[in-house]
Amino acid sequence: ETRDIAEEAARLIEFKLEPVPGVYTPEDGLKPGAPIIQGTDNVVSEYKIKKGDLETGFAVADMIVERTYKTPFQEHAFLEPEAGLAWIDENEVINIRVCTQVIEHFRAIADAVGVPHNKVRILGSLVGGGFGGKEDITVEVYLALLTQRTGRPVRLEFSREDSFVGHGKRHPFTITHRTGVTKDGKITALDVQILGDAGAYVYLSPYVLLYCVVNAPGPYRIDNLNVYGRAVATNNMYTSAFRGFGGLQACAAYEQQMDEVADAIGMDRLEFRRRNFLETGEPVSTGFVPPSAIWTDRCAEAAWDALGERSPAPAPHIRIGRGIGCSQQSYGRLTFLHDTSEAWVGAEMDGTVVVRSGVTDIGAGQASALGQIAAELLGVTLDNVVVYNSDSAVTPLAGTTTATRALYMTGNAARLAAEAVRGRLIARAAQEFGVAPEKVDLAFNKAFVIDEPNHALPFKELIAICASEGVHRSELSIFRAPFTDMLDPETGQGQAHPDYAYGAHAIEVAVDIETGEVAILKSIAAHDVGQCINRAAVEGQIQGGAQNGQGYALSEELLFRDGKLITPSFAEYLTPTAMDVPNVECIIFESRSGLGPFGAKGVGEPAMTPVAPAIANAVADAIGVRVFEMPITPERVIDALEAARHG
Ligand code: MOS
Repeated sequence: ETRDIAEEAARLIEFKLEPVPGVYTPEDGLKPGAPIIQGTDNVVSEYKIKKGDLETGFAVADMIVERTYKTPFQEHAFLEPEAGLAWIDENEVINIRVCTQVIEHFRAIADAVGVPHNKVRILGSLVGGGFGGKEDITVEVYLALLTQRTGRPVRLEFSREDSFVGHGKRHPFTITHRTGVTKDGKITALDVQILGDAGAYVYLSPYVLLYCVVNAPGPYRIDNLNVYGRAVATNNMYTSAFRGFGGLQACAAYEQQMDEVADAIGMDRLEFRRRNFLETGEPVSTGFVPPSAIWTDRCAEAAWDALGERSPAPAPHIRIGRGIGCSQQSYGRLTFLHDTSEAWVGAEMDGTVVVRSGVTDIGAGQASALGQIAAELLGVTLDNVVVYNSDSAVTPLAGTTTATRALYMTGNAARLAAEAVRGRLIARAAQEFGVAPEKVDLAFNKAFVIDEPNHALPFKELIAICASEGVHRSELSIFRAPFTDMLDPETGQGQAHPDYAYGAHAIEVAVDIETGEVAILKSIAAHDVGQCINRAAVEGQIQGGAQNGQGYALSEELLFRDGKLITPSFAEYLTPTAMDVPNVECIIFESRSGLGPFGAKGVGEPAMTPVAPAIANAVADAIGVRVFEMPITPERVIDALEAARHG
């Protein structure tokens, strides 16, 4: 009945732990004789890409540049910790109200507690931040078990410390690039070796690794390519989904490497990129040609130009530097997962519009976008639309809010449903007006004859006519992403994702060479989002992505001792605050070429991807020496300067 009783009960549990040897780096996990944590050799998964001929590519290179980059663990740091309520209702259904990105875990939860799938109902709440950290199951199974065993309602909320150790972290990767390049800046060959820390449990490590491998060369044309990636189990905290999902770690490496190679051949860093950018219609690493526009070049130019005049250094010990990061990031899930999404759109008798969809809204406006799409197609104002979402028992299943897929997948499902209803309403209105359906449009809560605005019928009256005659005023639609096979296991060729989004981030920093501190002076993002559905939401994603990437690059550090997290609080794990983040300028391009509704792509993950390498490149530009491991803490800046001083 009370927290005190629960804590007393917990104290009565006796357990014995027997220490066994562990491994705490992927390198150690691969050593012969290493303690085995997963499988037979700790290798959780591996993927390869082989394209063209690497040896020929290196043979024609004027220079070969090899560098190794390290990316860190990262905590999602959502403000709302994992929390939920569970109860059993009069149908013996286990109801769980929970903050999650994925209500369709109801199946796995039902399997875990031994009930049929239709006896678990997940009601998604508005989520106080997800970022991938609420993509896996968190509190649900505990809640289901507790309510099942006690027959009582149960509430479970993680403390901040519980949360730090209660969900998977971003995978740290060690990524080595070996680039062959000609004097005039053409990349002739690229070999990328990737080693990821999968932590103690598998979770989504294989898919995260696959994203890293597929995106290893970034938005660049590389005919002779070899990529080899492995995710290795360790006794560290487990690692799983985090915004960017491996594609982001890939970018952290390839964008720093682009600067290193440009510097090695003495070419302007943006010009070197320009000479190697993929253009629209060219294939990515897997041989797949993205169906949409590739506008990395104009994003890069716009972001770089917007930096404007270089800020003056306020003191001799302050160094100003500038950097750019360009990115490729998929939207939509891996195509061999055969993704689908559903939405229902209908009109009530009074002319108001309802959208029903299982989509979870994790703070980016996933639900309200569906309302906008229905309003646009049915010609009603937004105040006449309501969206019911995120209830696994009554809203059509929409899949996950992950992988920058909600607008693309569920937005398309809502579009299809609204288009079907629109077609029937227009047909009936045309009959009323005595004109062909092509002559009729819906807008401003009216049906009207095009070019004859006074020849109109209020939407409400049109619906009343349809209702009285039994015209179907609603539709349940399914949208299917492309269905493909797995990539070829030997060459990695094929299709991995439905499509890709491209963008760039430009940064100006001030580095204090006495203290090693880095301040961000200017932060400019340019992304082709295809089509803004909600501009404020797009800008929100971009600004949040800039903040998220800034913490990743500079200050957020999870430290472990023998696999145990020793920084489980926001006093030790330093996310940037409003004091640290400058105004982020958003430059939004709309190529209208995306696979989402009205040509939209997606921006949730892409907004973060190029930020950290842009910062790393700016720091290197400022101090003339690179810190190869993130986060670029003051200690690492000072160490790098010291090392350079000692040659
Ligand atoms: Mo995610 S990292 O929520 O696909």
